[in-house]
Amino acid sequence: MFTEKDVVSADNITNKLGNDFIGKRVEVYPQLASTNEIAKVAASNRVPEGMVIVAEEQTAGKGRLDRYWISPKGCVSLSIILYPDIKLLPSLIMVASVAMIHTIKKVTGLKASIKWPNDILINGKKVGGILIEGTIQHINVGYAVVGVGLNVNFNISDYPEISEIATTLSDEMGKPVSLLDIIRTLLIEFEKLYKSALDGDMVYREWHDNMDTIGKKVSAKSGNIIYEGIVDDVTKDGNLIIKTSAGETVNFIAGDVILLK
Ligand code: BTN
Repeated sequence: MFTEKDVVSADNITNKLGNDFIGKRVEVYPQLASTNEIAKVAASNRVPEGMVIVAEEQTAGKGRLDRYWISPKGCVSLSIILYPDIKLLPSLIMVASVAMIHTIKKVTGLKASIKWPNDILINGKKVGGILIEGTIQHINVGYAVVGVGLNVNFNISDYPEISEIATTLSDEMGKPVSLLDIIRTLLIEFEKLYKSALDGDMVYREWHDNMDTIGKKVSAKSGNIIYEGIVDDVTKDGNLIIKTSAGETVNFIAGDVILLK
Protein backbone atom coordinates (compact mmCIF):
# COMPACT_ATOMS: atom_id res chain seq x y z
CA MET A 1 0.00 0.00 0.00
CA PHE A 2 0.98 3.62 -0.31
CA THR A 3 2.45 5.58 2.59
CA GLU A 4 3.13 9.23 3.52
CA LYS A 5 6.08 9.08 1.11
CA ASP A 6 3.62 8.61 -1.78
CA VAL A 7 1.52 11.68 -0.98
CA VAL A 8 1.33 14.09 -3.91
CA SER A 9 2.79 17.22 -2.29
CA ALA A 10 5.06 19.87 -3.77
CA ASP A 11 7.89 18.72 -1.47
CA ASN A 12 7.55 15.06 -2.43
CA ILE A 13 7.51 15.97 -6.14
CA THR A 14 10.53 18.29 -6.06
CA ASN A 15 12.65 16.35 -3.53
CA LYS A 16 15.84 15.07 -5.27
CA LEU A 17 14.12 15.26 -8.65
CA GLY A 18 17.45 16.09 -10.28
CA ASN A 19 15.95 18.30 -13.01
CA ASP A 20 17.45 21.65 -14.05
CA PHE A 21 14.18 23.50 -14.53
CA ILE A 22 11.08 21.34 -15.08
CA GLY A 23 9.44 20.90 -11.67
CA LYS A 24 11.95 23.03 -9.73
CA ARG A 25 8.89 24.90 -8.58
CA VAL A 26 5.61 23.03 -8.12
CA GLU A 27 2.22 24.04 -6.75
CA VAL A 28 -0.26 21.34 -5.74
CA TYR A 29 -3.95 22.17 -5.25
CA PRO A 30 -6.58 19.78 -3.83
CA GLN A 31 -9.06 21.02 -6.45
CA LEU A 32 -8.97 23.41 -9.40
CA ALA A 33 -11.30 24.16 -12.28
CA SER A 34 -8.41 23.58 -14.70
CA THR A 35 -4.64 23.50 -14.14
CA ASN A 36 -4.16 25.04 -17.61
CA GLU A 37 -6.17 28.11 -16.60
CA ILE A 38 -4.04 28.71 -13.47
CA ALA A 39 -0.85 27.99 -15.42
CA LYS A 40 -1.79 30.54 -18.11
CA VAL A 41 -2.23 33.27 -15.49
CA ALA A 42 1.10 32.30 -13.87
CA ALA A 43 2.83 32.26 -17.28
CA SER A 44 1.55 35.70 -18.18
CA ASN A 45 3.14 36.87 -14.91
CA ARG A 46 6.43 35.33 -16.13
CA VAL A 47 6.91 32.79 -13.33
CA PRO A 48 10.11 30.74 -13.82
CA GLU A 49 10.15 28.38 -16.79
CA GLY A 50 9.37 24.80 -15.83
CA MET A 51 6.96 25.68 -13.04
CA VAL A 52 4.29 22.97 -12.69
CA ILE A 53 0.69 23.33 -11.50
CA VAL A 54 -0.87 20.10 -10.20
CA ALA A 55 -4.49 19.50 -9.16
CA GLU A 56 -5.68 16.44 -7.25
CA GLU A 57 -8.97 16.89 -9.09
CA GLN A 58 -10.39 19.30 -11.67
CA THR A 59 -13.97 20.49 -11.81
CA ALA A 60 -13.77 21.95 -15.34
CA GLY A 61 -10.91 20.03 -16.95
CA LYS A 62 -10.46 21.08 -20.58
CA GLY A 63 -9.85 18.76 -23.48
CA ARG A 64 -9.07 19.58 -27.10
CA LEU A 65 -11.78 21.10 -29.27
CA ASP A 66 -13.51 22.58 -26.19
CA ARG A 67 -14.37 19.18 -24.81
CA TYR A 68 -14.82 18.45 -21.10
CA TRP A 69 -12.01 16.36 -19.61
CA ILE A 70 -13.11 14.09 -16.77
CA SER A 71 -10.50 14.43 -14.02
CA PRO A 72 -11.58 13.05 -10.67
CA LYS A 73 -9.26 12.23 -7.75
CA GLY A 74 -6.92 9.50 -8.93
CA CYS A 75 -6.10 11.33 -12.18
CA VAL A 76 -2.85 13.08 -12.90
CA SER A 77 -3.81 16.61 -13.96
CA LEU A 78 -0.89 18.96 -14.38
CA SER A 79 0.36 21.84 -16.50
CA ILE A 80 3.97 22.73 -17.29
CA ILE A 81 4.87 26.35 -18.07
CA LEU A 82 7.40 26.96 -20.85
CA TYR A 83 8.79 29.92 -22.80
CA PRO A 84 10.10 28.02 -25.84
CA ASP A 85 11.68 29.24 -29.01
CA ILE A 86 9.07 29.27 -31.76
CA LYS A 87 11.06 26.58 -33.60
CA LEU A 88 10.26 24.19 -30.74
CA LEU A 89 6.49 24.60 -30.88
CA PRO A 90 5.75 21.59 -33.14
CA SER A 91 7.96 19.43 -30.90
CA LEU A 92 6.02 20.14 -27.71
CA ILE A 93 3.24 17.66 -28.46
CA MET A 94 5.90 15.08 -29.38
CA VAL A 95 7.89 15.70 -26.19
CA ALA A 96 4.76 15.43 -24.03
CA SER A 97 3.45 12.31 -25.80
CA VAL A 98 6.76 10.45 -25.71
CA ALA A 99 7.31 11.49 -22.06
CA MET A 100 3.92 9.94 -21.24
CA ILE A 101 4.76 6.71 -23.10
CA HIS A 102 8.13 6.46 -21.28
CA THR A 103 6.50 7.20 -17.91
CA ILE A 104 3.79 4.57 -18.30
CA LYS A 105 6.39 1.99 -19.34
CA LYS A 106 8.82 2.86 -16.52
CA VAL A 107 6.24 2.95 -13.72
CA THR A 108 3.86 0.15 -14.78
CA GLY A 109 5.63 -1.82 -17.52
CA LEU A 110 2.58 -1.24 -19.77
CA LYS A 111 3.06 -0.40 -23.43
CA ALA A 112 1.14 2.68 -24.52
CA SER A 113 0.86 4.18 -27.99
CA ILE A 114 -0.07 7.51 -29.56
CA LYS A 115 -3.18 8.31 -31.57
CA TRP A 116 -2.67 11.47 -33.58
CA PRO A 117 -2.62 14.19 -32.50
CA ASN A 118 -2.69 13.99 -28.71
CA ASP A 119 -4.22 10.79 -27.38
CA ILE A 120 -2.31 8.22 -25.35
CA LEU A 121 -3.77 4.73 -25.73
CA ILE A 122 -3.40 1.39 -24.03
CA ASN A 123 -4.88 -1.57 -25.92
CA GLY A 124 -6.73 0.88 -28.16
CA LYS A 125 -8.37 2.76 -25.27
CA LYS A 126 -7.58 6.32 -24.24
CA VAL A 127 -5.63 6.60 -20.99
CA GLY A 128 -4.32 10.16 -21.36
CA GLY A 129 -4.37 13.35 -23.36
CA ILE A 130 -2.46 16.57 -23.86
CA LEU A 131 -3.74 20.12 -24.28
CA ILE A 132 -1.19 22.76 -25.26
CA GLU A 133 -2.24 26.39 -25.00
CA GLY A 134 -0.22 29.55 -25.39
CA THR A 135 0.35 32.95 -26.88
CA ILE A 136 2.38 34.16 -29.84
CA GLN A 137 3.60 37.76 -30.00
CA HIS A 138 4.85 38.76 -33.48
CA ILE A 139 7.14 35.85 -34.28
CA ASN A 140 7.89 34.85 -30.69
CA VAL A 141 6.15 32.55 -28.28
CA GLY A 142 4.83 34.46 -25.27
CA TYR A 143 4.34 31.27 -23.32
CA ALA A 144 3.24 27.69 -23.82
CA VAL A 145 1.34 25.70 -21.22
CA VAL A 146 1.52 21.93 -21.67
CA GLY A 147 -1.47 20.34 -19.94
CA VAL A 148 -1.23 16.63 -19.28
CA GLY A 149 -4.09 14.44 -18.11
CA LEU A 150 -3.59 10.76 -17.27
CA ASN A 151 -6.19 8.32 -15.92
CA VAL A 152 -4.36 6.55 -13.11
CA ASN A 153 -6.32 5.35 -10.07
CA PHE A 154 -10.03 5.18 -10.65
CA ASN A 155 -12.48 2.71 -12.13
CA ILE A 156 -13.46 3.66 -15.64
CA SER A 157 -16.74 1.76 -15.09
CA ASP A 158 -17.78 4.59 -12.74
CA TYR A 159 -17.89 6.84 -15.85
CA PRO A 160 -20.22 5.05 -18.32
CA GLU A 161 -20.00 7.98 -20.76
CA ILE A 162 -16.35 7.08 -21.51
CA SER A 163 -16.02 3.50 -20.28
CA GLU A 164 -16.22 2.02 -23.80
CA ILE A 165 -13.40 4.16 -25.18
CA ALA A 166 -11.16 4.92 -22.20
CA THR A 167 -9.17 3.09 -19.55
CA THR A 168 -7.09 3.79 -16.44
CA LEU A 169 -3.69 2.49 -15.36
CA SER A 170 -5.17 0.83 -12.25
CA ASP A 171 -7.81 -0.93 -14.37
CA GLU A 172 -5.07 -2.18 -16.70
CA MET A 173 -2.81 -3.26 -13.81
CA GLY A 174 -5.52 -4.63 -11.53
CA LYS A 175 -3.98 -2.62 -8.67
CA PRO A 176 -3.31 1.04 -7.75
CA VAL A 177 -0.33 2.88 -9.19
CA SER A 178 1.65 5.56 -7.31
CA LEU A 179 0.54 8.99 -8.53
CA LEU A 180 3.72 10.47 -7.10
CA ASP A 181 5.93 8.07 -9.12
CA ILE A 182 3.97 8.92 -12.25
CA ILE A 183 4.33 12.69 -11.74
CA ARG A 184 8.05 12.59 -10.86
CA THR A 185 8.89 10.25 -13.74
CA LEU A 186 6.86 12.37 -16.15
CA LEU A 187 8.72 15.55 -15.16
CA ILE A 188 12.11 13.81 -15.49
CA GLU A 189 11.27 12.33 -18.89
CA PHE A 190 9.76 15.60 -20.08
CA GLU A 191 12.91 17.60 -19.26
CA LYS A 192 15.19 15.04 -20.93
CA LEU A 193 13.12 15.01 -24.13
CA TYR A 194 12.56 18.78 -24.15
CA LYS A 195 16.32 19.38 -23.95
CA SER A 196 16.96 16.90 -26.75
CA ALA A 197 14.25 18.36 -28.99
CA LEU A 198 16.54 21.16 -30.13
CA ASP A 199 19.30 18.93 -31.42
CA GLY A 200 18.30 16.37 -33.96
CA ASP A 201 15.13 14.47 -34.65
CA MET A 202 15.28 11.85 -31.89
CA VAL A 203 11.97 12.98 -30.34
CA TYR A 204 10.24 13.04 -33.73
CA ARG A 205 11.51 9.52 -34.48
CA GLU A 206 10.21 8.15 -31.17
CA TRP A 207 6.89 9.97 -31.62
CA HIS A 208 6.64 8.55 -35.14
CA ASP A 209 7.57 5.03 -34.06
CA ASN A 210 4.97 4.98 -31.26
CA MET A 211 2.22 6.37 -33.49
CA ASP A 212 -0.69 3.95 -33.64
CA THR A 213 -2.39 5.87 -36.44
CA ILE A 214 0.07 5.21 -39.31
CA GLY A 215 -1.27 2.68 -41.84
CA LYS A 216 -4.76 2.83 -40.35
CA LYS A 217 -7.97 3.71 -42.16
CA VAL A 218 -9.33 6.94 -40.72
CA SER A 219 -12.00 9.53 -41.04
CA ALA A 220 -10.46 12.96 -40.41
CA LYS A 221 -12.59 16.03 -39.80
CA SER A 222 -11.32 19.58 -40.15
CA GLY A 223 -14.07 22.19 -39.79
CA ASN A 224 -16.85 20.97 -42.07
CA ILE A 225 -14.65 18.88 -44.33
CA ILE A 226 -14.31 15.14 -43.76
CA TYR A 227 -11.58 13.09 -45.43
CA GLU A 228 -11.48 9.31 -45.45
CA GLY A 229 -8.35 7.41 -46.29
CA ILE A 230 -5.26 5.60 -45.08
CA VAL A 231 -2.73 7.43 -42.91
CA ASP A 232 0.54 7.52 -44.81
CA ASP A 233 2.78 9.24 -42.28
CA VAL A 234 3.25 11.99 -39.69
CA THR A 235 5.60 14.87 -40.53
CA LYS A 236 8.27 16.61 -38.48
CA ASP A 237 5.87 19.54 -38.16
CA GLY A 238 3.40 17.22 -36.47
CA ASN A 239 0.99 16.98 -39.42
CA LEU A 240 -0.87 13.87 -40.55
CA ILE A 241 -0.58 12.78 -44.18
CA ILE A 242 -3.66 10.97 -45.46
CA LYS A 243 -4.02 9.22 -48.83
CA THR A 244 -7.72 9.42 -49.66
CA SER A 245 -9.58 6.77 -51.62
CA ALA A 246 -9.77 9.30 -54.50
CA GLY A 247 -5.96 9.19 -54.64
CA GLU A 248 -5.51 12.64 -53.16
CA THR A 249 -2.77 13.33 -50.57
CA VAL A 250 -3.99 15.55 -47.75
CA ASN A 251 -1.73 17.27 -45.23
CA PHE A 252 -3.87 17.41 -42.14
CA ILE A 253 -2.76 20.06 -39.63
CA ALA A 254 -5.43 19.99 -36.93
CA GLY A 255 -8.73 18.34 -36.23
CA ASP A 256 -10.32 15.13 -35.16
CA VAL A 257 -9.44 11.65 -36.35
CA ILE A 258 -11.56 8.53 -35.97
CA LEU A 259 -9.97 5.14 -36.56
CA LEU A 260 -12.20 3.09 -38.88
CA LYS A 261 -12.46 -0.68 -38.75
C1 BTN B 1 -7.55 15.86 -24.72
O1 BTN B 1 -7.30 14.66 -24.85
O2 BTN B 1 -8.50 16.37 -25.32
C2 BTN B 1 -6.66 16.71 -23.87
C3 BTN B 1 -6.87 16.50 -22.39
C4 BTN B 1 -5.96 17.36 -21.55
C5 BTN B 1 -6.34 17.33 -20.08
C6 BTN B 1 -5.34 18.05 -19.23
S1 BTN B 1 -5.57 17.72 -17.51
C7 BTN B 1 -4.43 18.96 -17.11
C8 BTN B 1 -4.68 20.12 -18.05
N1 BTN B 1 -5.73 20.99 -17.52
C9 BTN B 1 -6.83 20.94 -18.27
O3 BTN B 1 -7.88 21.57 -18.03
N2 BTN B 1 -6.65 20.15 -19.33
C10 BTN B 1 -5.32 19.57 -19.35
